Amino acid sequence: MTEQQQTQKPSEKDRVYIFDTTLRDGEQCPGASMTFEEKLQVADILDAMGVDIIEAGFPIASQGDFESVSEVAKRVKNASIAGLSRASVKDIDRCAEAVRHARIPRIHTFISTSPVHMQYKLQMAPEKVLELIASSVSRARNHVEFVEWSAEDGTRTEHDFLCRAVETAINAGATTINIPDTVGYTTPVEYRALFEMVRSRVPNADKAIFSVHCHDDLGMAVANSIAGVMGGARQIECTVNGIGERAGNAALEEIVMAMRTRSDVLPYTNRIETKMLTRASRLVSAVTSFPVQYNKAIVGRNAFAHESGIHQDGMLKNAHTYEIMTPESVGVSKTSLVMGKHSGRHAFKEKLKELGYDLGENGLEVAFNRFKDLADRKKIVYDEDIAALVDDEIVSSHERIKVVALTVIAGTKGPQSAALTLEIDGVQQTHQATGNGPVDAIFNAIHALAPHDAKLELFQVHAVTEGTDAQAEVSVRLSEKGDVVAGKGADPDTLVASARAYVAALNKVMARRGRGPLEAIAAV
Ligand code: KIV
Ligand code: ZN
Repeated sequence: MTEQQQTQKPSEKDRVYIFDTTLRDGEQCPGASMTFEEKLQVADILDAMGVDIIEAGFPIASQGDFESVSEVAKRVKNASIAGLSRASVKDIDRCAEAVRHARIPRIHTFISTSPVHMQYKLQMAPEKVLELIASSVSRARNHVEFVEWSAEDGTRTEHDFLCRAVETAINAGATTINIPDTVGYTTPVEYRALFEMVRSRVPNADKAIFSVHCHDDLGMAVANSIAGVMGGARQIECTVNGIGERAGNAALEEIVMAMRTRSDVLPYTNRIETKMLTRASRLVSAVTSFPVQYNKAIVGRNAFAHESGIHQDGMLKNAHTYEIMTPESVGVSKTSLVMGKHSGRHAFKEKLKELGYDLGENGLEVAFNRFKDLADRKKIVYDEDIAALVDDEIVSSHERIKVVALTVIAGTKGPQSAALTLEIDGVQQTHQATGNGPVDAIFNAIHALAPHDAKLELFQVHAVTEGTDAQAEVSVRLSEKGDVVAGKGADPDTLVASARAYVAALNKVMARRGRGPLEAIAAV
């Protein structure tokens, strides 16, 4: 069946709602924190891509979370905006306050229902849990029309109790019932049967939409999600690139492309514009500094690469021999060879549009200058180079600390030294430091200019494209008092990319603390 045929008869198919939780469950994973501005950018792309519900955060968790949920609620044009809340009055009221400006506000409230969670985590009797389900859902319903209730650790919950809990939530006014596989424990056959069981046994089950929410601890999150849909669920909770707690959540791009590519056996429709999947993946990877593994399905760098001679031969004869979906269908352009130093502003703007970026006039100007600089230093500029450069610019545009200039003396005779100029809150300062190697010297200089207690946990370099003049993309992870933040930087000079990556992570340390004076970095 061709791709066109696959999308032709939506009316016959069952509609599945895509609920994206990149900004909540995704952001909860260590090191994936995003700044306020980054969250808005992710929300914008999710909305433009056709996500039905965006879970924008956990408003009670912090003032920052509250503000970002509330700003996302104000600016998003199409999607419904959900906020997460525990089963307490304070949580629910705070959540209602955060989502109230949304076109379609939703409160998502949850409580654990499995024996192990009720006994050890909640230390609550099952009857008390049922009481809280009723009171929390009805309080949420007094605030908004759409209330989702989740049975945390639902897949390890006793069936009789799960049915009573679901019935209680629907009676109290829940419009969506989510049965999460919180610990990534279930299997496809079991999860499908669970939905069939609950939907057949709960008397008021027809009054709510059922939802899947799967974690990937055993690598089955996507398969389980689809199995849940086959069991009658009509909402899928997922994240871009599958980021999330521990092994992550079900990956949005995999779910959407599985349903599209195998619509012959998965006759469900959704509203996602699949051509935006790669762009969304790149943005989430850039702002979380979580690299996408090369062999990741759909959005990995090798997802459409054909290396072996036999495969290449087959591809040249007919692409269907080894491609079950086209790269274009997920937003990967046919050729990745793009422009050089003679390309003008207009061509650059068109290229950005083709890659899915909309930077606005100021952003465009800065990105164009960086592109020109890159084109002067690098013979061939590929799409990947432009994406790395623009992602780097997106992340750094709102930062309080910026790398202005760097000169490094390195080589066999130490000590290596770095003269670094940073702009901190608009003021430029320079420091010269030595170190055990050039990277150490640079990081020492950053330390001297912006003192902090965060520890370096990870330093990783990879080349954006092939060739010795390729841009380097550096990832840095810093930890401080149990909090992990990550930063990425790109530049043809590995040392400049290293400085940018460290500074990007440091900016996130500050963003987590709010907008206090820079000296607070060392004091907290
Ligand atoms: O995994 C989980 O159970 C959750 C709930 C809060 C829905 O993320
Ligand atoms: Zn979860």
